[in-house]
Amino acid sequence: MQTAHEFFIHELKDMLDAEQQLVKALGEQESISNRPELKKAFGEHRRQTEQQAERLRRVFESIEESADEGECSGIRGLVEEVHNFMEEDPSPDLIDVFNVGAAKKVEAYEAIAYKSLIELAQDMGHRKAVQLLRQNLREEEQTFKKMDGFSKKIKPERSGMEEEEEVSARSRSRRSRSRSRRAA
Ligand SMILES: [Fe+2]
Repeated sequence: MQTAHEFFIHELKDMLDAEQQLVKALGEQESISNRPELKKAFGEHRRQTEQQAERLRRVFESIEESADEGECSGIRGLVEEVHNFMEEDPSPDLIDVFNVGAAKKVEAYEAIAYKSLIELAQDMGHRKAVQLLRQNLREEEQTFKKMDGFSKKIKPERSGMEEEEEVSARSRSRRSRSRSRRAA
């Protein structure tokens, strides 16, 4: 690989693979989510993601290149984390908390990838490509915001953690009492 054009194509192929992997992953997240509003959000973004893949194909078309897929290892890793998490037999509540966080990681990754692609397309004067890529970027940023809103509402069950905190606070105060007795 030598030229900016080759690099641009490489990065585009990578994102096409990313979006296609995500169509599948979002479908899985939709079906494992428990809260109806979350299911709905994953379903909506899955449909959006299909459109995003379609827009990427149009970017290839606009520069007269064939729309092949690359291999996006970054997204593959993030999707694998979802599968690994499900093997931990998580509670329904934690599945939702986890999925919101996982979606935010994905959206942040995609937004940065699109920003880099837009810069490249701008440098090379591919105006149609810039326009299409910006649409995808906007959707990723909106989805990030939506998921961020969920993470402020959907909190993990804290009782276990609070009990631990109480125990350690009690043992701290016991220690300080015995210290002050020794000092007296
Ligand atoms: Fe996407």
